[in-house]
Order: sequence, then C-alpha cells, then structure tokens
Amino acid sequence: MSNQHNQEKLSSARFSESTDAFVEAFTASIMFDKRMYKQDIQGSMAHARMLNKVGILNDKELQDIIDGLGQVQQEIEAGDFNWSIKQEDIHMNIEARLTDIIGITGKKLHTGRSRNDQVATDIRLYLRDEIDQILPELKRLQQGLITLAEREAQTIMPGFTHLQTAQPVTFGHHMLAWFEMIKRDIERLQDCRKRVNTMPLGSAALAGTTYPIDRHYTAELLGFERISENSLDGVSDRDFAIEFTHFAATLLMHMSRFSEELVLWSSAQFQFIDLPDRFCTGSSIMPQKKNPDVPELVRGKTGRVYGHLISLLTLMKSQPLAYNKDNQEDKEPLFDTVDTVKGSLRAFADMVPAMIVKKEMTYEAAKRGFSTATDLADYLVGKGLAFRDSHEVVGLAVAHGIKTGQDLSEMSLETLQGFCEKIGEDVYDVLTLEGSVAARDHFGGTAPKQVLEAVGRAKAYLETI
Ligand code: ARG
Repeated sequence: MSNQHNQEKLSSARFSESTDAFVEAFTASIMFDKRMYKQDIQGSMAHARMLNKVGILNDKELQDIIDGLGQVQQEIEAGDFNWSIKQEDIHMNIEARLTDIIGITGKKLHTGRSRNDQVATDIRLYLRDEIDQILPELKRLQQGLITLAEREAQTIMPGFTHLQTAQPVTFGHHMLAWFEMIKRDIERLQDCRKRVNTMPLGSAALAGTTYPIDRHYTAELLGFERISENSLDGVSDRDFAIEFTHFAATLLMHMSRFSEELVLWSSAQFQFIDLPDRFCTGSSIMPQKKNPDVPELVRGKTGRVYGHLISLLTLMKSQPLAYNKDNQEDKEPLFDTVDTVKGSLRAFADMVPAMIVKKEMTYEAAKRGFSTATDLADYLVGKGLAFRDSHEVVGLAVAHGIKTGQDLSEMSLETLQGFCEKIGEDVYDVLTLEGSVAARDHFGGTAPKQVLEAVGRAKAYLETI
C-alpha cells in the first residue's frame, strides 16, 4: 500500500489499508452516476449559497466555489474531465476536482451535508428535469392521435372483441381510445412530479446537522415545491423513483397494445395501414418484406421497463432505515427507464401522424364478419321483438349468410322476411356500416359526429397541459 494510495481513499484516516482494487471498482458508481453531473453541480451551488447566507462561508469562499464548480462543469461538457474510479461517485469526483482548482475552500463545500442527502437530491433534480422533457413528448403523441382521429373521423373499420369482428367503429374513435390511455398516463406523471419535487437536502447523513442551515432557502434556489419533513425518510426514500417507473411501465403497457395493433394492421392479412418506410426495415433475405420494427421494438422494450419496476420494488423491500448502499442500485434501472420512455415516445410521436390508413380495406373488412348483426337485432327490438328472440332470428340470418357467402346487407327483403316477417324496407338503413356507426350517437360513442366532438374536447384538454 503506497502512501499516496492511502491518501486518495475517501475518509482515509480511518483506514489502515487501502481498498482492494476489485472492491474499489465493485462499489463505485461513477460509470453511471456521472449522468447527474449537472444536477450535482446545481445542488452544490445552491448549498454553497445557503452556507453563505447563514454565515458559514464568506463571500470570497462562495465566489471561489461558484467559479470553481462552473469550471468543473465546463470541463465535463468539453469532455476534458478525468473521471476517476478512486473517487467512487459523481459527488466525490466533482468535489475532488473543485478542491484541485480552488484549493482548501473546496473542502468546505461539504459542510452540513452528506452524500446521502446529496444523492437523494441529485436524483430528484435529475428526474424532475427528465419528467419536464417527457411531458411534451407525451403531448406530441397526443397531438398526432388527434390529427389522425380528426382526419379519419368518418373512416369505417371493424371493431373487435376476442379479435373477432364485432361491430363497425370509426378509425377516429379507435385513435381516441389510445388518446384516453395516454391522457391517464400524463395525469399519473404529473402527479408523480409533485412528490419528486420534494427536497431532502438538509437531512445530512440521517439525523440532520448541527449547523444552522436554512433549508427553505436552498429549496427556493433549486425550485423545489417543498422540503422533506423527516431526515431519516429524506435520505432513504426512493418511492418517487418507483412511482415514476410505475408510470413508465403502464405507459409502455399501453404502447405495447398500440404496437401489437400496428403490427397486425400493417400485415398482408389485415392491410389496414401503411407505416411510412422510414419507420420500417427490410429483410436481408426476403426481398418483399417491410417489417414494422419500431412498434415491434417498443412492444419488446415493455419487458425491460417492467423488469426495472420489479428491480426497484425489490431493491427497497425490507431495507431498514436510513440510507443503505443498496440504494446505489436505484440509478441504472431508473436511467434506463427514462431512456426507454423517451426513445419509445419519440418514435411513436413521429410515426403515428404519418401513418396511412387504407380506408377501402378497413371498410371491406368491416363488411365481412356480419358486423351489423347487433344492429339488426336492435332493429327487431324496435319492431316489438324481445331482445333474446331477435338475437335468435339474427343468428339464423347469419347462418344463412355464412352458407351463401352473403352479408346481411346483401340479402333480399324476401330472404330477410323469411326469418321474421316484421322486417321492412327500412332495415337497410341499419344494415349499412354508415348507418350502424352513425346510430351510436351519444357521448363516448363511435358516430363520426361524436368523434369530432371528442376531438374538440381533446384539443381543449391539450391547451390545459
Ligand atoms: N454513490 C452513492 C449512491 O449512489 C452515494 C451515496 C453514498 N453514501 C454513502 N454513505 N456511502 O447511493
């Protein structure tokens, strides 16, 4: 053990031998927590200003720290910073470099705080910044869905249950179902942000500090809405990260459902849509292939986000108060969740409004599969039959259609009257696809008129977020 080695070690005075080289690398987090350099510097600057305000740092010391940290940030951003595993994490790397630059004053920065409250603060600042980038992307996806819903408000397609043709719906209505899911995701994220935006700084290692700190002032400088009420909870709480990952898991679950539909719809069997070429790839062996890679990949990425949620829940399970080194494991799942959400949203927000809907194909598909059978049953109820009886009559008509290869709307009046003499000429109004969708004309229904009204409400909602 060289002397120099010993001096490099954190809290070296306590130790009689230096850390094993493997253990040093094993316990370090600098490889991944350097991502939070900006927030670490931002937090340190605010902490230093607070220390100056309460008389712990004089004006010259504060100025040196602010200038020094500014230089550190420049070095990092210019790619000139020498990251060191010996300095373990982002907090120690920055503090060590600051002390190199400004000398002994650099060592005063850590007065009245600990890495425990520092890291908890950094993650919250980082996540708040990311949430503020994710929200506009969610909004952009919403805008794409609205554009498509408005454009395709009259477009008829089959609606499915059990993936079997059920009743005709409008394409716009289907897009607005996706819109509603994302809207709830936005609400979840906005709600999560409130709890992220709480400042733990001042909790110090676990019990608070003996210095006369002014936490409210630091919080104000950092734009935190509130400060944590309990120092033990402040340093150890990670449920805000779990909440964010839960938001992400639910969002990706929704996006995997869209993805599945886009993959099906763009297949040769459905042919409902064309995805623009720039979102697809070819096959290296089959020249005819155009693969919907983007939705497939997003569907696949859902798995890793679910994994991260389980990782974080398990990480926190049974941890005694307060900080434990286990918590260092919170970052990689959280960072990867952020990256996955941002990438998936960006791809979808670009792709969705560029989708081409093949109206003739969706119309033809809706005509197959007796999608207006329920309309005929409702029609017969209007003529005085009990619903169960009309259900029976329509079942016979459908069986006839299957045998003869005819849709209900293609059968002659005589044929239809063979199943029930109450059927009149007006039956064709309800048997057409247009009649069927137009009849579902109530709040939340699929009628084109209702879709356009829902588009109006959706646009108004977007103005509020
Ligand atoms: N790198 C650590 C983490 O991410 C910082 C806090 C370390 N605190 C400690 N007492 N070892 O959690």
